[in-house]
Amino acid sequence: MNYNPIIVALDVESGAQALQLIDQLEDSVDFYKIGLELYSAEGNSIVKEVLARNKKVFLDLKFHDIPETVKRAVSRAADLGVHLLTVHAYPQVMAAAVAGKGQSELQLLGVTVLTSLSEEDLVDLGYPEGTSVGALVRQRVQQGIAAGIDGFVCSPLEAKAVRSLSGPEKVLVTPGVRSPGKDAGDQKRIATPAQAISDGASYLVIGRQVTRAKSPKDEALAILSEISTA
Ligand code: C5P
Repeated sequence: MNYNPIIVALDVESGAQALQLIDQLEDSVDFYKIGLELYSAEGNSIVKEVLARNKKVFLDLKFHDIPETVKRAVSRAADLGVHLLTVHAYPQVMAAAVAGKGQSELQLLGVTVLTSLSEEDLVDLGYPEGTSVGALVRQRVQQGIAAGIDGFVCSPLEAKAVRSLSGPEKVLVTPGVRSPGKDAGDQKRIATPAQAISDGASYLVIGRQVTRAKSPKDEALAILSEISTA
């Protein structure tokens, strides 16, 4: 398979551990997610080191601020040369992010509704009783399309619905995937990699199944073959 849909989440506490993992994975993986933990530890230096190894970077910092700040921060991320960047899928934030990315190749992903939020939490946040997570996801996908965002992060269980709303061009990234029989850890709403791809995911974010495997490279190759034979 030429197109490799695996993005490995570098959920580790130091740059040294992240680079060791990348070296172990060799050419089985070419896309890595740097999130809040590693970014807080190492800042842009780890982003630059991963890019210097000819790997793509998904910078998962979930921006949410006033429009001018979002616009300028997105411009800086575009200058850095990362490939994917997340912002919260609020209309103002997404419009500012699209303005900030300008003509760069950076692709912006809207985070619709955090999967940690239940319908009860939405009430605590001030949404009217009876607001469903699904309805809010659909509303934000439509707002993202209107804002000109490049794609969305969604749970694999929402991938089909989001793909049918967003059309074939948008980039859909799904965490929460596990191969059959593998430890789900704290993930509750999971699907297999093959299922997520057949439901319309463009990329799968996989953390522990690969990073904690005895051989991360063999694990990544096994997932790729699982997807290609599905
Ligand atoms: O180890 P695991 O495969 O569960 O890691 C999944 C990665 O995707 C982690 O970096 C986690 O923060 C991220 N993620 C998630 N669920 C979401 C959003 C992000 O698991 N809804």
